[in-house]
Amino acid sequence: MSPIFELKNVTKQFGNFQSLTDINLQIYPGERVALVGSSGAGKSTLISLLNGTLQPTQGEVWVLSRNMRRLRPKQLRQVQRQIGTIYQQFHLVNDLQVIHNVNAGHLGRWSFFKAAVSLLYPLEVETAAKALVQVGILEKLYERTDRLSGGQQQRVAIARVLVQDPAAILADEPISNLDPERSREIMNLLCQLSLETGKTLITSIHAFEYARRHFQRIIGLQQGRILFDAPTEEVSSAMVNELYNINPHTK
Ligand SMILES: Nc1ncnc2c1ncn2[C@@H]1O[C@H](COP(=O)(O)OP(=O)(O)OP(=O)(O)O)[C@@H](O)[C@H]1O
Ligand SMILES: [Mg+2]
Repeated sequence: MSPIFELKNVTKQFGNFQSLTDINLQIYPGERVALVGSSGAGKSTLISLLNGTLQPTQGEVWVLSRNMRRLRPKQLRQVQRQIGTIYQQFHLVNDLQVIHNVNAGHLGRWSFFKAAVSLLYPLEVETAAKALVQVGILEKLYERTDRLSGGQQQRVAIARVLVQDPAAILADEPISNLDPERSREIMNLLCQLSLETGKTLITSIHAFEYARRHFQRIIGLQQGRILFDAPTEEVSSAMVNELYNINPHTK
């Protein structure tokens, strides 16, 4: 089986600042991987490289066996359609009904005309409704999005990705705006969807305990480098302490 994502000697620089240094990794279809590390470690930068929002300064990013740098814009969009991303801030249009935000998952496929018509007369209500059933908030289909709670808005963002039906779901801190109970629910939901659909799931998370509880594999980033990349059961508390620079003698 070939990897769905592969980074070869990847370095990412912003001006003089090196955000990622010499990253090598392979992620295979169906894997559930957590990216952990302190603020500024490079988690969001890595996610942006995986979905083609950013290009590396050096090295190669391969997605679905395509070298992202070699793609023409149209080919890049085709690959990007296969990668769904969920963000901390949900990235929803607040004053639209939920159904329109969910239908935005079609945008990579729909013509401009179809998208415009759908704003007046929602198309593919059934697909949107099915996705909302999967995330547990069907009753919100015609609600204005900004009337929903944070946890519900994150469910709308997940429903949009389900409509997009990508091969992989990337989530950049999907729970950092949510309370602990909502965080657990959203992580359970994402992992359950990944298990049911076989979609690869890569999530950056601040709180290490969520990574340990929900993921099979954990990649620890420290100042732009991979400190460890291991199956969850092999990640020791010493490794976690080193990652967050916690010295047991000074505690
Ligand atoms: N567009 C940019 N321009 C300049 N520097 C950037 C840019 N994006 C990221 N950086 C820098 O790269 C480093 C890594 O940032 P990144 O956002 O990837 O970290 P992170 O691990 O996601 O942090 P957090 O947990 O706070 O979200 C930071 O020092 C940041 O300031
Ligand atoms: Mg980040």
